[in-house]
Amino acid sequence: MNKPSGFKPYYFKTLTSTNDEAKRLARKGLDKILVISDKQTKGRGRFNREWISGLGGLYMTIVLKEKNLDKARYLTLIATVSVVKTIKKLTKLNALVKWPNDVMVNDKKICGILTETISGKENYALVGIGINVNQQTFNKNISNKAVSLKIITHKNYSLNKLINLIITNFNLLYNHYNNKNYEKIIDVWKKYSHTLGKRIKAKTISGVYIGEAVDVDNDCNLILKLNNGKLKKIVEGDIFTV
Ligand code: BTN
Repeated sequence: MNKPSGFKPYYFKTLTSTNDEAKRLARKGLDKILVISDKQTKGRGRFNREWISGLGGLYMTIVLKEKNLDKARYLTLIATVSVVKTIKKLTKLNALVKWPNDVMVNDKKICGILTETISGKENYALVGIGINVNQQTFNKNISNKAVSLKIITHKNYSLNKLINLIITNFNLLYNHYNNKNYEKIIDVWKKYSHTLGKRIKAKTISGVYIGEAVDVDNDCNLILKLNNGKLKKIVEGDIFTV
């Protein structure tokens, strides 16, 4: 079995959240490690939402020591693209990236990314990746919007194989990140976009906006063209196709 190139894996049977453990290990000074757990008791997503984390899913966090965290939002895009390329390679399914942090298959969510940062004397980015892989079912509340690889293909997948491929893909794009070649990252993201060109409803703290998703800018914001023709920058929020 190949090893995730350039990263040292730390495996656990159960954790509250791989992001919590990643934070603990980063605070000890560890860099370029992967925190992986078979399940999580308090898996979380954006806005502190619950991430259902039973056996069969993939839960891991990539720990990176960074000089600067200004462009850390790119790490989320890099992670989503890495997962998309991995799913496409292993399954031939048409996986796509949904702004800002999701991977979709058949219009349902199969993966979410939670990037958190630690800033201080040393800065860290913690890129948490949750993928629905071998789960057979989901409860009624989420089964209309979430799906696993197993539910679609009726096959089981090796989590280690997925991890190794994700890391290979991540490393390629992370090189562009280190070379400040952010445009290249956006270009690749656009190639797999589930969002651009669609009519979108964006729910943000400042209100709800409806328009066509026309671009992602160089700060990773989504640009909507509203009905009145004006462009609206969406920095954070949830988006839905309408
Ligand atoms: C989201 O969709 O809002 C993001 C979900 C991120 C889930 C992953 S699972 C591994 C890591 N640990 C967590 O607690 N969350 C992330």
